[in-house]
Amino acid sequence: MSSSNYPVDMAIIPEVKAFFDPATNTISYVVKDPASNACAVVDSVMDIDYAAGRITYDHADEIITYIQDNDLDLEWLIETHVHADHLSGAPYIQEKLGGKLGIGEQITVIQETFGKVFNEGTEFQRDGSQFDRLFKDGDTYQIGEMTAFAMYTPGHTPACMVHVMGDAAFAGDTLFMPDGGSARADFPGGDAGTLYDSIQKVLALPDDMRLFMCHDYGPNGRDIAWETTVGDEKAHNIHVGGGKTREEFVRFRTERDAQLDMPKLIIPSLQVNMRAGKLPPADESGKTFLKVPVNGL
Ligand SMILES: [Fe+2]
Repeated sequence: MSSSNYPVDMAIIPEVKAFFDPATNTISYVVKDPASNACAVVDSVMDIDYAAGRITYDHADEIITYIQDNDLDLEWLIETHVHADHLSGAPYIQEKLGGKLGIGEQITVIQETFGKVFNEGTEFQRDGSQFDRLFKDGDTYQIGEMTAFAMYTPGHTPACMVHVMGDAAFAGDTLFMPDGGSARADFPGGDAGTLYDSIQKVLALPDDMRLFMCHDYGPNGRDIAWETTVGDEKAHNIHVGGGKTREEFVRFRTERDAQLDMPKLIIPSLQVNMRAGKLPPADESGKTFLKVPVNGL
C-alpha cells in the first residue's frame, strides 16, 4: 500500500504519555483518544534481572496506575514488533485491565524461526494464536472514537509495523531520533534494503506528524528523547535523511551491523515475546525455565 492510501487524519490529536525504561532504553506509551476515555498501550516492558533469573513488574505497574488514576479504558495493547532487547509487559497489563493484544501478522515467521532455535515442541503454536489480533498492512482498528491503522514496515524484523493514531505515529524499531539513525537489520529475516523501503513509507506520512520512538540511547551525551516529526527525520536523520540513497544506506547499515554485539536480553526476550509476552509453560514441578540455546543464535 502506498502511503497516500492510508487513512491519515491529522485533525485527531491524541494525548500521548511516555514511560521510559532506563534498564532497556525502551519507551512505552499510553495513547488516549481525545474524544473519549479509551486508550491504547504501545510496547510495554516486563522487568527482568537476567543474571538472577528474576522477573518483576515495576514498569508495567506504573502504566497500570496511570491508566487507573486517569479513569481510562484500555482497549488495545499494541506490540510494534517482537522485541529482542526487552520482555513485553502486555499480558500482565491485559490481565489487570483487559484490552486486546495485537501485533503484525508476520509474527508467524518469527515463531517459525525461533520455535526452531529454542527447539519448542508442538505445543508451541506458530500461528499467532497467542495474540487477539494480527494486523495486515493498512488494517484499521478503533480506540474509542479514534481510528488507528497499522503500516507494514519490515526490515529490522519480518513482523515490524508502525502504528498511526491520529497525528501520532509509533515508529517501533524502524527509525530512531534523527541523531540516532535507524535500527539494525541483521536479525534473522532482517534486511537493510527492506528497512530503507519501509522507512521511506514512514517518511511519506505528513511532515508535521508526530513520531514516537521505541528506543533512545542519548547519543553523544544528549538527554534521552523520544518525540520528533516526520519532517525532522526526513531532513536530519543521520542514516536516511537529506535524501540518502538506498545503496548508501545498505552499505552503511551492513558495515555497522557487523560490528554490533547481540542485545543483552535477546535470549529471554525472544523466548517470551514470541509467546506474546508470556513465560514458557511451567514444568511438572510447577517451575518455569528459560532456555539458552548454545551456539544456536
Ligand atoms: Fe526491536
